[in-house]
Amino acid sequence: MIVLKLGGSVVTEKDREETVDGAALEEAAAAIAAARDGGVDDVVVVHGGGSFGHPHAEEWGASTTEGVRDVDGVTAIHGAMTTLNKFVLRALHDADVPAVPVHPLSAAHRDRDGALTLPSEQVATLLDEGFVPVLHGDLVAHAGEGATVLSGDEIVTSLADSMDAARVGVCSTVPGVLDADDAVVPEIRSFDDVENVLGGSSATDVSGGMAGKVRELLALGAPASIFDLDALPAFLAGDEPGTTVHGDR
Ligand code: IPE
Repeated sequence: MIVLKLGGSVVTEKDREETVDGAALEEAAAAIAAARDGGVDDVVVVHGGGSFGHPHAEEWGASTTEGVRDVDGVTAIHGAMTTLNKFVLRALHDADVPAVPVHPLSAAHRDRDGALTLPSEQVATLLDEGFVPVLHGDLVAHAGEGATVLSGDEIVTSLADSMDAARVGVCSTVPGVLDADDAVVPEIRSFDDVENVLGGSSATDVSGGMAGKVRELLALGAPASIFDLDALPAFLAGDEPGTTVHGDR
């Protein structure tokens, strides 16, 4: 199976709160529908928060490690994400993709050390039954913290592992990991390959989270491609557009 992340900044307008990028969403849905027509029917979709989740998380001081305990905060952050999820589902349904929502808050949790448990049996069964499960960045119950943010990227790596994904796709606003001359680095096999452009281990993540993303993808058993929306049809057709991270596991 394939785990496909649609970045929040791809499907929403980053600078306008709670605004969907309808054209981008339609394009992504059309690519998934075309791939299904071509026989690719084992895709799990995960979308990020963009201008829906992030402003609310910021307002309530919630992050992956700092929890929110106020039920109004939980309602605002989770509610924004389920609203976005409804838009994503509608776009997929309009393209005749049998998309079904899976809300992580209802299923996942973190222990006191922050370690995530995200069940995937329901996702696998939905897939087996011909549906396209659509998960999203969310809040999760976090022992000792209340509820913390669960990023779409964490969902992707967790599902890729537990469902033994054949391929992972991260559809982003950039065409891949860029080198010092802004050319796409086609392949990464170890962090050393890109340390000079992404920054060392102690550098702050100023590159839109790319360094952290690459590190997480390197820990996967499946190859993971980072590409932009233009390249989504090629990825779903089996190509490796953009940057492909080959895990060192
Ligand atoms: C964020 O998910 C979820 C919340 C803020 C609740 P992501 O971190 O995966 O979102 P993007 O893709 O960066 O927008």
